[in-house]
Amino acid sequence: MDKLKYRWIVFGAIALLFLFLGSEAPLHARPKKSNKYPPETLFDTLPNPPFHLHPLLAPPIPPYNLQTPAKVELGKMLFFDPRLSRDNSVSCASCHNPELGFSNGQPVATGIRGHKGSRNAPTIFNVAYNKLQFWDGRAGSLEEQALGPIQNPIEMGEDLSHLVQKLNGIPGYVEAFKNVFGTGVTADGIAQAIAAFERTILSNNSPFDRFMAGDDNALTPTAQHGIRVFNEKGKCVTCHNGPNFTDGKFHALGLPKRDGLPNDLGRSVITQDEAEKEQFKTPTLRNVAQTAPYMHNGMFATLEEVVEFYVKAEPTTSPRHPLLTPLSLLTDQDKKDLVEFLQSLTGEPIKMTPPKLPE
Ligand code: HEC
Ligand code: HEC
Repeated sequence: MDKLKYRWIVFGAIALLFLFLGSEAPLHARPKKSNKYPPETLFDTLPNPPFHLHPLLAPPIPPYNLQTPAKVELGKMLFFDPRLSRDNSVSCASCHNPELGFSNGQPVATGIRGHKGSRNAPTIFNVAYNKLQFWDGRAGSLEEQALGPIQNPIEMGEDLSHLVQKLNGIPGYVEAFKNVFGTGVTADGIAQAIAAFERTILSNNSPFDRFMAGDDNALTPTAQHGIRVFNEKGKCVTCHNGPNFTDGKFHALGLPKRDGLPNDLGRSVITQDEAEKEQFKTPTLRNVAQTAPYMHNGMFATLEEVVEFYVKAEPTTSPRHPLLTPLSLLTDQDKKDLVEFLQSLTGEPIKMTPPKLPE
């Protein structure tokens, strides 16, 4: 048999096998257990793609910044090192604290010398899956993002060339950069190492994922009912969809304004498109139980308050997505179950102790 024919036969056999396996248990669908969930399985009730809610696959790694253990370790040191700020007082971890779901527990962030920002610090969990970074999507990659807060006058307030000079004076960093990049400390290297570290901060294997993989006991019946509310009456899945529970798009929710914060026009400042006024990126809901307070302005202290906001959807003069109308069908039990479901999106805890910083 010639080689080519042989290849096609093998290819055909593999394709058939996949078809067969696929029809039995598609990767993204939970195996059918209709007696537990009459009359259909959850997935039968889901509006069809693109709403797949399923466990996350490994995040994309850009070819220009491949992961290596030494690079990730260097990124971790930089992430925890307050010397990346002008007065050596604030590190990335000050606002993205592993103990607080890689967020900081405050409504809006506080940077060097107590400067208050105007936005809530989002979690770093699963940023590896974001197409665009920041609430307004102004950064396209983690590499591009990382140098932003360092130079932001109210976050870390450091000048890049000054920082590079400062770190080049620390032998431990010089050696680590040499090992990883074959150069001294550079701004690009700082960005790449931090991004590589961030790509390891993943939230996965939550009770929800285990349930989807077929473990009926991973979710209580009330949390299972919460998934239904999320997908059906609550319409949440329209925007919080895909394995990371975000469509990666920008929407205006018509949130009430917060006293003391400037009027935030969100996405439209970046795109200069009036139609995108007050739109913000749909955040991931993975690990959301750990990352209070919520929304770009940190206005809600609890998940119950967030749900209540969606339920009431009080009239506003601000722009608002047409889908957001009061959820009058939601009962008190539905609301509780919805919150319980959101809490089931907390992944396996990541044990992270701050690294020893180079000297
Ligand atoms: C003073 C607090 C503060 C510090 C320090 C800080 N951040 Fe942030 N971070 C924020 C805030 C606030 C936002 C949201 C800003 C916005 O959207 O405009 C943010 C957004 C981000 C995002 C985007 C997440 C998303 O889902 O869009 C990433 C990634 C990030 N920070 C990483 C870092 C890294 C890396 C460092 C250190 C180099 C750092 N941050 C330092 C407060 C901080
Ligand atoms: C029209 C799209 C859309 C729908 C529908 C929607 N969300 Fe959101 N959600 C967003 C956006 C956008 C934000 C961020 C808004 C902001 O900060 O201005 C958000 C924020 C949140 C947050 C805060 C997360 C954080 O880290 O701050 C939670 C929790 C949440 N939504 C849950 C829900 C639930 C539960 C439902 C259904 C009842 C729902 N969402 C329906 C788009 C949507």
